[in-house]
Order: sequence, then C-alpha cells, then structure tokens
Amino acid sequence: MIVAIRKMGDPCLLTPSTAIAPEEFNSMELKQLIQNLRDTQRHLGGVGIAAPQIGINKRVLVIEYYQTQIARYSDIGDCPLRVIINPEITPMGDDLSVFNESCLSLPGLCGEVIRPQAIRYRYHDETGQLYEGEDADFFARVLQHECDHLDGVLYPMRMQDMSKLAFVDALVAG
Ligand code: NI
Repeated sequence: MIVAIRKMGDPCLLTPSTAIAPEEFNSMELKQLIQNLRDTQRHLGGVGIAAPQIGINKRVLVIEYYQTQIARYSDIGDCPLRVIINPEITPMGDDLSVFNESCLSLPGLCGEVIRPQAIRYRYHDETGQLYEGEDADFFARVLQHECDHLDGVLYPMRMQDMSKLAFVDALVAG
C-alpha cells in the first residue's frame, strides 16, 4: 500500500527508532510494513526508504534500484529489493567520498554529503536471516543514508557546507 511520506519537520524523522524484537520477525505486521515501504518507494521513485519516513519508528528499511531506471546517477549497478532490519554498519579504512544526496523526505532538494567510502554491514531480513558483507559503492552510500534515518538524522544535518544544499531543478537549469 502506498502511504504518505513524512517530510522534514515531522518529529518522526528526528526520533531514534527501536529494534525489531526476535518475536516480530515473520509477523504479519512486519510484512505489511515492508510492503508499504516497497510500494511507497516505488511510487515515489526513490532508491531507499526507511520506516520513520512513513511514520513508523522501527529499525526497518528497504533499498532497491536499477541502473536503467535511475537516470540521475551513473554507474550504480542494480540492487534488487533488499529488506534490511536492525542494521549495523562500521566504516572501513579512512577513505571518504563526496556525493550529492537526495531524500524522499526533502522533495526537490539535494546536498553534498561526505561519508566513509567503504563500510562493513550486518543486518537481518524479514525472516530473521543474517546477512553480512562489505561495500564501497553506491549501496554503501544509500545504506549509510538510510541508517541515519533510523537514528533520527537527515542528510542536511551531515552537511559541512550548507551552500551546497540546492533545488535539483535549479542545478539543472543553472
Ligand atoms: Ni532519505
């Protein structure tokens, strides 16, 4: 089900989210939440969405993107739907990357954010299965952005230079 997206200013987006408890895995409630996240993200054309963005302060997010559908980024590859629950991420190495991020909760805007290039991650899917891995590409960027949502952090709060906050259409026009 497509649900209303919460926008910057909504207290939900600034509230740290709580972990999914062991007994919540495989529940109907969790399945419904994941479906709503997936439907809403597909409807709005995002690459990732976290539960607080639809008003649910739980540590659940989904990431899904396909190179052919995302004209605004090049060389991102494909990421079929990944359901990510209770994620933990740790930076690997000292390399940083600069990227012009956008967010469904700040429609029309984008801004330059510096983040660790490479991360190690651990998360569970909706059945409770554990996934572990490393990434230094677009997935690492999206996962860091989405994990911030679970801690009540929006990307402008990470920006070092607020003059790099812009409307996407102004950048294109400029
Ligand atoms: Ni976002």
